[in-house]
Amino acid sequence: PVCTGLFRAVGAAMSVFVTRRIPAEGLRVLSQASGCQVQQWDSDEPVPRAELLAGVAGTRGLLCLLSDRIDREVLEAAGPGLKVISTLSVGFDHLALDEIKKRGIRVGYTPDVLTDATAELSVALLLSACRRLPEAAEQVKSGGWTTWKPLWMCGYGLSDSTVGIIGLGRIGQAVARRLKPFGVRKFLYTGSGPKPESAAEFGAEFVPLTRLAEESDFVMVTCALTPATQGMCNKDFFGRMKKTAVFINTSRGAVVNQEDLYEALAHGQIAAAGLDVTTPEPLPTDHPLLSLKNCVILPHIGSATYATRSTMAVLAANNLLAGLRGEPMAHELKL
Ligand code: NDP
Ligand code: DGY
Repeated sequence: PVCTGLFRAVGAAMSVFVTRRIPAEGLRVLSQASGCQVQQWDSDEPVPRAELLAGVAGTRGLLCLLSDRIDREVLEAAGPGLKVISTLSVGFDHLALDEIKKRGIRVGYTPDVLTDATAELSVALLLSACRRLPEAAEQVKSGGWTTWKPLWMCGYGLSDSTVGIIGLGRIGQAVARRLKPFGVRKFLYTGSGPKPESAAEFGAEFVPLTRLAEESDFVMVTCALTPATQGMCNKDFFGRMKKTAVFINTSRGAVVNQEDLYEALAHGQIAAAGLDVTTPEPLPTDHPLLSLKNCVILPHIGSATYATRSTMAVLAANNLLAGLRGEPMAHELKL
């Protein structure tokens, strides 16, 4: 991979650094903007730290990904000219917001446009884990399917179940909306406080985390990663869950204590898990969680539809340009 200065304009006032190859529609927005000079790490692989530090030097705008840690070191390497950071994600736990705020830098992000895709993937992961789809498909290939057996490959269904949602935000609500027609009897949720308007659509009850763990047949983690949620799903949490319950995380890997999750899955404290996010990413291929049949792990593909990624890229590019022009962004983080 090379760091390319793809589009250069004479006297460009808006120099930006893009940390990865992104959908063409997004790059086009930047390249067609008058006065915008784009430097890009033109690769599907992450920009090496040294290239990131060199790439941001002297730029006014940074379009980054959730895999780029934007901390004090990066901000110092960028210098005082950096005015806007636009992340191609709704999550912003990779951004050192206190340092960013101190420097008066504006931040754009991509909420809403990925909600449907991520909720859809969350439901797909739930069904994969509770009905054991990867394990069953593997049996077909390996010859383990010998005949129709009444006691074989049984799992747990959603009819008449209780679903607990950790974080009834945009994605949490979109998940509940999709799960309701499966015959869910009761929705529970937790968060920093009750959200009666959001909960009313599902008749969802606000409960403490401990009660959500104890009463849910399915736990869906859809919260943001914050100091309060980091490691929230731990030994105590899994110990309270039902032996027949299924745990799904599509938020961030660090919300879960993975050692505790492994113990819970390996010792039958819970039935199964589905993870779209892990710590670290990628998860090493010899990680203990990958040895478990009752754990389905996906490579952080929640928002991965062609249409969604394209829309995210256009939104991130437009956020960046709006910030550089001193205009309101479609989606700006309030710092
Ligand atoms: P929202 O801001 O709409 O929702 C975040 C939710 O987190 C809020 O409901 C908030 O609840 C909740 N939350 C905050 N603190 C706590 C807490 N202590 N306990 C429980 N819940 C808490 O964000 P989105 O729904 O748009 O996105 C959520 C997250 O999903 C993102 O931050 C990102 O990390 C992840 N994500 C993952 C994707 C993937 O590819 N797997 C794709 C897209 C997003 P309250 O309002 O009560 O504070
Ligand atoms: C996000 O946007 O935060 C996701 O993790 C990727 O789309």
